[in-house]
Amino acid sequence: NTTLPYPRDVIARLGDLKPNQPLSFHYPDDRSPCVVIRKGRAVKGGVGPKRDVVAFSTQCTHMGCPVSYDQASETFKCPCHYSIFDPDNAGQMVIGQATENLPRIVLEYDEAEDVILAVSVDGLIYGRQANII
Ligand code: FES
Repeated sequence: NTTLPYPRDVIARLGDLKPNQPLSFHYPDDRSPCVVIRKGRAVKGGVGPKRDVVAFSTQCTHMGCPVSYDQASETFKCPCHYSIFDPDNAGQMVIGQATENLPRIVLEYDEAEDVILAVSVDGLIYGRQANII
């Protein structure tokens, strides 16, 4: 992680997240597409009462193609050169041309407001020299 001044953005109300259904947002700016997923079971880096909410950049770390979340396999798949990333393991690359994991959006859960916030990025977003530009 970094000490850069990342924004603290509310990205979703926990109650609005349906299990295993990705919800799109942008972070840390409008040019960086991401998705948040409520896995329904505790996963690495997950936040919320069940530790089951995770989020990732959806730009493939190989050449920047948009990855999509496949609900059947519960993985992110890149259509360009078939890299696969595992959201249950902090975005770890499973197979393919990419050499880096999918950047993980670091989240916090605000219990009082029942919302999920994005607070920083773990990993370098594709095509950038720094996540905050
Ligand atoms: Fe995703 Fe090449 S851009 S595998």
